[in-house]
Amino acid sequence: MSAQIIDGKAIAAKVTDKVTEGVKARIAKGLRAPGLAVVLVGGDPASQIYVQSKRRTCEKVGFTSKAFDLPDTTTQEDLLALIDQLNDDDSIDGILVQFPLPKSLDETLVVERIKPSKDVDGFHPYNVGRLAQRIPKLRSCTPRGMITMLETIDVDLHGKHAVVVGASNIVGRPMTLELLLAGCTTTTCHRFTSDLEHHVRQADILVVARGKANFIPGEWVKEGAIVLDVGINRLESGKITGDVDFDTAKERAAYISPVPGGVGPMTVATLIENTLFACNEFHS
Ligand code: GUN
Repeated sequence: MSAQIIDGKAIAAKVTDKVTEGVKARIAKGLRAPGLAVVLVGGDPASQIYVQSKRRTCEKVGFTSKAFDLPDTTTQEDLLALIDQLNDDDSIDGILVQFPLPKSLDETLVVERIKPSKDVDGFHPYNVGRLAQRIPKLRSCTPRGMITMLETIDVDLHGKHAVVVGASNIVGRPMTLELLLAGCTTTTCHRFTSDLEHHVRQADILVVARGKANFIPGEWVKEGAIVLDVGINRLESGKITGDVDFDTAKERAAYISPVPGGVGPMTVATLIENTLFACNEFHS
């Protein structure tokens, strides 16, 4: 069997088209455009690329985008003061502080300072807690984006065994909560998991967010599984590749997301979707 490719780029384009329509509908009613503040601290090259893409997409869908590029000497107090200012700014519906932050800054304090109604990354304990309690509002972008991908496939997720490899706050943990909400039986694998291969082989839905090129051999993938690969790894050759050995995995999976062009574009599309949601639902 050769898997069907899940085209994240095309699905993300549909999501952003829908957001563009939502912005036009607001403007037609005489309401303001949604506003997103994107904060980058320091000069991490990967973060610069992600942030550029977020800002560009904002402008494409008609949002007001406010850019804050801060030096890596920024203090905790300065960053928290900026968040306070953005929390109080009525033209801003979403605040995104790109992670990772320089080591001198505390990411937990930053996440907790953002008003939950402007937490378009869905990282605040309030929003993660709502997801855990089956009453989600703002949902973490990459996990929520992967659920949107799964919704395009004609599959009933109820009772499926979903295995998530990686337990970060940004992807692995909230993805487990999303899959639980969708009715899956879930297993989360992490650095202390023994016999990863055993767990991966059970997966009807396999999500891999480990950040290591070809970490999962294709032979571990269950026949007919759905594979979502969150990894974005640059090889020495310059080629971008995922966490799953794509060429062998695609011979066993029923559906698989490629890298690039799979999960990556969904993160930005969901951020934009969350910002429109926050604007309509909480701020208007
Ligand atoms: N760093 C990697 N992914 C993300 C994300 O989704 N949001 C933020 N703020 N930082 C990230």
